[in-house]
Amino acid sequence: MVLSVFLRWIFKLLVVLIISQCVCVVYYMTNTHTSRIRLKLCCNATGSLYLTKHNTAVNQKIPYETSIIHTYRVDAALHTLLPEDFPWSGRGLGQCAVVGSGGILKNSSCGCEIDSADFVIRFNLAPVNDSDVGLKTDLITINPSQIRAGNLQKIPGLFAERVSVYGNSSLILPAFAYTFNTQLSIKTLKDLQPIRPQQPVVFFSPDYLRTLDRYWKRRGLKEIRLSTGFMLISMALELCEQVHVYGFWPFDSDLQQRAVPHHYYDQKGPKHGIHAMPEEFLRLLQLHSQGALTLHLLPCS
Ligand SMILES: *[C@@H]1O[C@H](CO)[C@@H](O)[C@H](O)[C@H]1NC(C)=O
Ligand SMILES: *[C@@H]1O[C@H](CO)[C@@H](O)[C@H](O)[C@H]1NC(C)=O
Ligand SMILES: *[C@@H]1O[C@H](CO)[C@@H](O)[C@H](O)[C@H]1NC(C)=O
Ligand SMILES: *[C@@H]1O[C@H](CO)[C@@H](O)[C@H](O)[C@H]1NC(C)=O
Repeated sequence: MVLSVFLRWIFKLLVVLIISQCVCVVYYMTNTHTSRIRLKLCCNATGSLYLTKHNTAVNQKIPYETSIIHTYRVDAALHTLLPEDFPWSGRGLGQCAVVGSGGILKNSSCGCEIDSADFVIRFNLAPVNDSDVGLKTDLITINPSQIRAGNLQKIPGLFAERVSVYGNSSLILPAFAYTFNTQLSIKTLKDLQPIRPQQPVVFFSPDYLRTLDRYWKRRGLKEIRLSTGFMLISMALELCEQVHVYGFWPFDSDLQQRAVPHHYYDQKGPKHGIHAMPEEFLRLLQLHSQGALTLHLLPCS
């Protein structure tokens, strides 16, 4: 008698567990799906992440991302240099790894896991290596200030050599974020093309970044400009089946209370003012708990 009551109780518990698991899975799938659809409807990285011949017309005036008065007219010469279309036209990107520069990647042994993704996104010409961060790169951002600081615009071969470690990955620049970025970005494209024609240099669409900025501000994110990390995580949420996020960690000690440097590749500290990394991180945690992306915060084994 006691035993059968006990068994019935166990059975009920199992049923509740199974149902709640199913509800959870459905909830996760719906959430992932919803944020993907929302981002696509609002911002459309799929069709407008960067300027292409397809989404930009000759003589089109494009606005600057951070200015309401300046625009730039795309002449025929620049138009011929734009890529035809996106490599992902008509399909998704599969499993993506978005690799930030956070010091938690140091000694993480995550290289293999990162390299197993279908599409790997990196930032700011960050160094690659097989042990901790992986080598595969499909899209990497470059800030024009890095080209200036390294004097890479002086000798075309210097820049070509610097970016050759990323194989044929696309290099993406915020050419129309500020007016002082534009000439240097166009020169970079013109100089690289004859030397490494297989390596695309592309320009973020300021329209895309403006709508994305509005999207997150409506959701309570307060900062002057989104970090490029957060921009490309948003792009990945729209285009990738699964989004794995590495090296995003805005604190100076890790989950095991060990001190971590700000970057995995240098000793520089955080800059204050433009971005609000802890605020962005809070959004990443929310997206992680909704199952829309996976944050990797521990070493890989
Ligand atoms: C996204 O942009 C592409 C190219 O401009 C367009 O064909 C497509 O309809 C857009 N999708 C949405 C949901 O706005
Ligand atoms: C990484 O490992 C090296 C060698 O074991 C050690 O000296 C260093 O402190 C470690 N760094 C971090 C951030 O864990
Ligand atoms: C890069 O592109 C060149 C020319 O298309 C090709 O020969 C080479 O194999 C490519 N390299 C990689 C790493 O895909
Ligand atoms: C890989 O890069 C990390 C971070 O810069 C560094 O600590 C580690 O020693 C590097 N490993 C190799 C094999 O180069």
